[in-house]
Amino acid sequence: MKDNSITIQTSGLVKKFGDFTAVNHISFTVKKGEIFGFLGPNGSGKTTTIRMMLGLLPPTQGSIEVLGIPVPDLITDILPRIGYMSQQFSLYNDLTVAQNLEFYGQAYGLVPENMGSVIREAVELSGLDGFEDTPTKDLSGGWRQRLALSAAILHRPEVLFLDEPTAGVDPISRRLFWDLLYELVAEGITVFITTHYMDEAEHCHRLAFIQHGEIIAQGTPTEIKREAMIGDVLEIDTNQTEDLIKAIYEARDNGDNRSLNAELYGSLIHIFSTQPKQHTKYLQTLAKGADIKINSISVIEPSLEDVFIACMRDSDIGGNHEE
Ligand SMILES: Nc1ncnc2c1ncn2[C@@H]1O[C@H](COP(=O)(O)OP(=O)(O)OP(=O)(O)O)[C@@H](O)[C@H]1O
Ligand SMILES: [Mg+2]
Repeated sequence: MKDNSITIQTSGLVKKFGDFTAVNHISFTVKKGEIFGFLGPNGSGKTTTIRMMLGLLPPTQGSIEVLGIPVPDLITDILPRIGYMSQQFSLYNDLTVAQNLEFYGQAYGLVPENMGSVIREAVELSGLDGFEDTPTKDLSGGWRQRLALSAAILHRPEVLFLDEPTAGVDPISRRLFWDLLYELVAEGITVFITTHYMDEAEHCHRLAFIQHGEIIAQGTPTEIKREAMIGDVLEIDTNQTEDLIKAIYEARDNGDNRSLNAELYGSLIHIFSTQPKQHTKYLQTLAKGADIKINSISVIEPSLEDVFIACMRDSDIGGNHEE
């Protein structure tokens, strides 16, 4: 019997382009009604994974089921139940807002009698009222993004694939976009979203971190913070961040505390440490010796960004990727 609570299931998914492995044995499950975030740096395999789930690229190996249907074999059976917003927001610049929506409505096979009301609903949902006759090329990035989302959900899909929908969009538009996603999820839609914005990762119900085509951590934000992060984060407040980071790395080059990594975090420094007490003392002594004043140093709860950076560095040090 099919498990209706699972919307997407991939197992041992691989995609090779010639000798290059873009996606390397990844497996994940997306449950019905959740926002599943797929996080990774440029070129890590996010778009390739989405394209395989949509039946646009055949996997080299592994299996995919979307809404209980095997992909790509039976993709045509589920296309009407899927929405997709591609990384380039495939909108037609020369068409107006309403014309773009109409174009997508036709592509999704909406009957002409329903077209008007469906478009009106989409326009209202995305806050595009009054812009119906605006040429798409005159819309700002945030509005284009909302139009692209409206187009992707015109046919009321059960699952929505969004490929970096908020890239290059200002923070307020991004926030509004997430509010809209929550509304859709409340209506029962499942969302698979790729991003490299860490703050957005915190908004997802569950996440997978992908790097060099491999999943290096997955779970809820809380689980990932608890399990994937080995050690603590020391947060240092100093007015001489650059000097202190330099001093840490110089000492490291001279053989001191080789495992210490310091990252700039806004105006603060974050340091991953498996021995926070010992390292606090060490850093205080180091700073004093270099005539650097530390205002405060404390162990803090890691943010997802901390965990992401720590995971990526660990897996790079492990050298378990092909390049
Ligand atoms: N058709 C293709 N032929 C050869 N290599 C490809 C092809 N498509 C993608 N790649 C390579 O596969 C890797 C993963 O690409 P992909 O587009 O999936 O990354 P991404 O995580 O979506 O990156 P971005 O954040 O930049 O969108 C990259 O190194 C890319 O150059
Ligand atoms: Mg991409």
